Amino acid sequence: MAGRLFGKTCLVTGAGQGIGRAIVERFCADGANVIASDISERHFADLPRAATAVKLDVTDAAAADAIAAQHPHIDVLVNCAGYVAVGDIFECDEQDFARSLRINVESVYIMARAVLPGMRERRSGSIINIASVVSTTAAARRRFIYAATKGAVIAMTRAIALDFIGDGVRCNSISPGTVDTPSLGERIAAAADPTQMRIDMIARQPMGRLGKAEEIAAVAALLASDESAFMTGSDIVIDGGFAL
Ligand SMILES: NC(=O)c1ccc[n+]([C@@H]2O[C@H](COP(=O)([O-])OP(=O)(O)OC[C@H]3O[C@@H](n4cnc5c(N)ncnc54)[C@H](O)[C@@H]3O)[C@@H](O)[C@H]2O)c1
Repeated sequence: MAGRLFGKTCLVTGAGQGIGRAIVERFCADGANVIASDISERHFADLPRAATAVKLDVTDAAAADAIAAQHPHIDVLVNCAGYVAVGDIFECDEQDFARSLRINVESVYIMARAVLPGMRERRSGSIINIASVVSTTAAARRRFIYAATKGAVIAMTRAIALDFIGDGVRCNSISPGTVDTPSLGERIAAAADPTQMRIDMIARQPMGRLGKAEEIAAVAALLASDESAFMTGSDIVIDGGFAL
């Protein structure tokens, strides 16, 4: 469905790798102009031509406001940057707790607040928050603070959706199950028994496989496009049956 995002300017955070990167590629293929932002510039070398690379730490409110001022016509914001803290309540130290809140929760506040004035003025916009099925939807072992932050993302999605429904701005979230991305690979490699951990992660998903970043990007493209014009405040679960 090439061209469904033609003419739209889309800002994606955490765009360097994994799901964010797949969203950039999909949006470009669908005709969008994409501002691909990430805290690290290390993966920006081979971005698609329709993408502009921008260094942005989503916890830096001044930097987010500056990007919104430089690009006053942002039609779509995808909040994808995230951090997975592994551990139960006792394994979660105060640093991890604070870091998780900053990167996963405060970032949505900072980024949405930066782009909303422009969207309200144009009476049009779509904000897409990448949550997780590990949230208020389902529990997973040793994801204490991660699940809490992603539950907050779903709650913020609904709050923004309701507050700005009269301004033509939509806000939805996507809740993936386990998706094969570089950071997942790092978590598996760091496990005591990586082979067993991969088997366990696949076993959590009744479909019998991990998700692909492109499969999440396809849902993001729907939410970014006008084909989902009647959707706001929704959380789309795409998890290979994890939450069943
Ligand atoms: N991979 C999964 O199984 C999975 C499942 C459910 C939800 N998610 C969510 O999807 C999103 C992307 O996950 P992924 O696995 O593709 O991640 P990833 O770790 O592979 O990539 C995340 C990207 O975000 C960037 N980033 C980290 N901190 C940042 C910051 N402060 N500012 C800007 N950029 C920053 C990193 O540099 C990296 O390029 C996250 O929000 C994650 O919680 C992932």
